[in-house]
Amino acid sequence: MKVLGIESSCDETGIAVLDTETGELKQRLYSQIEAHREYGGVVPELASRDHVAKAAPMITQLLDETGGAETLDGIVYTRGPGLMGALMVGASIARAMGWALQKPVLGVHHMEGHLLAPMLSDERPEFPFVALLVSGGHTMLVDVEAVGRYKILGESLDDAVGEAFDKTAKLLGLPYPGGPELAAMAATVARTELKFPRPMIDRPGLDFSFSGLKTFALNTINRLSPLDDQKKAEIALAFEQAVVDTLRIKCKRALELTGYKSLVVAGGVGANQRLRAVLQNLLVDLQGRVYFPALEYCTDNGAMIAYAGGLRMAAGLRDDEQVCDVLPRWSLETLAPLPA
Ligand code: KG4
Ligand code: ZN
Repeated sequence: MKVLGIESSCDETGIAVLDTETGELKQRLYSQIEAHREYGGVVPELASRDHVAKAAPMITQLLDETGGAETLDGIVYTRGPGLMGALMVGASIARAMGWALQKPVLGVHHMEGHLLAPMLSDERPEFPFVALLVSGGHTMLVDVEAVGRYKILGESLDDAVGEAFDKTAKLLGLPYPGGPELAAMAATVARTELKFPRPMIDRPGLDFSFSGLKTFALNTINRLSPLDDQKKAEIALAFEQAVVDTLRIKCKRALELTGYKSLVVAGGVGANQRLRAVLQNLLVDLQGRVYFPALEYCTDNGAMIAYAGGLRMAAGLRDDEQVCDVLPRWSLETLAPLPA
């Protein structure tokens, strides 16, 4: 089945054409980061307008390269969770194309896209596995029994990990999105005496809380100011170590709880090299395996939506023809398993 995937939930316009049988994939990605940078974060109205401007020409170009719209078997788009206006752009385009071309349309869960993204690599995890989803909007540990069988084991009670990275980076004077910038700054020092707390590790359970770390960073910055580059880098390192260590502890717990041997790490923060190295070591110790999506599939992209939607569409699922809606808040646990 050949599907067009459209991702527009936040600040990336991602378009992909995927053949679910051969795995042949072509994609285009446009990041709006420059448009939002001067505001220090994503401005929802700007995001929607930029998706409107970029999505249609990107789709036209990609379809020109992949045999044309009439060769598609269906269109899938990110239905949620995400920014209402931004999601509406993808939904409207998908539905309009569905009507015009008389092709089926299906709305996809953005986080299912993230957690199945490692399936786009050659080394694919087998079910069941524990998924650590770490993005700008979400932090969760999920028991993934099969496609559509998801149980949330724990999630952030306040800021998402990516959000904590971005806010702390901002405190250090780094541009948006601060996650990769903070990581690069941390990598300029080998060690630090500074120690940040590991939130909620003394409590049982798998929930997270990251807003306190940002406050701790603010207090540390105030205490040590004026900051030179060395001090800034040490704060960045201490923060990153605390986040990564907290995620390691909770991943270990989730693997022990479920008895699973595979861990999948997905979402933008999955691009973090320290996190990758630490989780790699953890799974060696536990005699299991960790799977990361390719870096290009860690952050938002159309390929993961085409993959998750293509799987569901190939299993016969499609939305009602009258449906053109979005779900800015949508729990992963409400998804249905694939029909047998
Ligand atoms: O999954 P994603 O592209 O978008 C959402 O769905 O949120 O994740 C974006 C988040 C941002 O907060 C960004 O700062 C963070 O991922 N991020 C990183 C790194 N690369 C991206 N955080 C830490 N280290 C990185 N290398
Ligand atoms: Zn995302």
